Amino acid sequence: MLPIVDKPAIQYIVEEAVRSGIESIIIVTGRNKKSIEDHFDKSVELEQTLLDKGKLDLLRGVQAVSELATIHYIRQKEPLGLGHAILCAEQFIGNEPFAVLLGDDIMVSEPPALSQMMKLYERAEKTIVGVQQVPRQDVSKYGIIASGGSDSGVHVVSGLVEKPSPQAAPSDNAIMGRYILPPSIFSVLAKLERGAGGEYQLTDALHELCRSEGLLALDLQGKRYDIGDKFGYIQATLEIGLQREELRPQLLPYLHKLLSSIDNAGAEPLLWGQSASGSGRS
Ligand code: G1P
Repeated sequence: MLPIVDKPAIQYIVEEAVRSGIESIIIVTGRNKKSIEDHFDKSVELEQTLLDKGKLDLLRGVQAVSELATIHYIRQKEPLGLGHAILCAEQFIGNEPFAVLLGDDIMVSEPPALSQMMKLYERAEKTIVGVQQVPRQDVSKYGIIASGGSDSGVHVVSGLVEKPSPQAAPSDNAIMGRYILPPSIFSVLAKLERGAGGEYQLTDALHELCRSEGLLALDLQGKRYDIGDKFGYIQATLEIGLQREELRPQLLPYLHKLLSSIDNAGAEPLLWGQSASGSGRS
């Protein structure tokens, strides 16, 4: 529920799914379930207040959130890992392929990252993971694929490993929290043993599935922000803020001014005590 500019991170994820053509969404939560549910629910009192005050633009924005999609909620009782979280949704998904989007990975792209993968799925009808290259020293934060290279951004995957060391990693192509999975993943997950970090790892189940059914990875076009990381969160806030028409004219000069004050003063930003508009009052 951390806000990025003016909406919670989870809304960016839901909007990506909706823009990709997904109509029914299951959110697997641990704590904070109520605030997520409330956010996507109809806000009767708030809508009435906005209507009474004639704030119709804001009213439309609030209504749009509750009309985004049909959302169901499942609580994962213990934090036993991504593989376990997905298994919690088995009953609700049934015997159909489905997409998984991780809440910490915000993708800004046109077309949306998931729709890039869905387009490939329509042709290939295979399990797909979305990947991007990461610096070698960062591979141990991700699920990493092994492949013999890519053709038009598509890798035929020969294996997957969760959070390998830079020395052991089979490549620097990392899974970016986007998956299209077949229902057969559930039987693999049900038999899975604990993996990296003592958790049930989706990546381990995908490694098995890759051997039995084959699996593709797609190079995702777009910018990805890891908002589970402090720096990634700040990057997302600044860059998404700069993309907003209503904020850019204020934010861009502010950042220029901040940077030049740091350049002039060494490590200390001089904007403290000044107003952001630069009037210089302290
Ligand atoms: C999870 C997955 C990992 C993936 C990553 C993307 O890891 O297990 O394979 O690469 O998300 O963000 P986590 O970040 O939850 O540790």
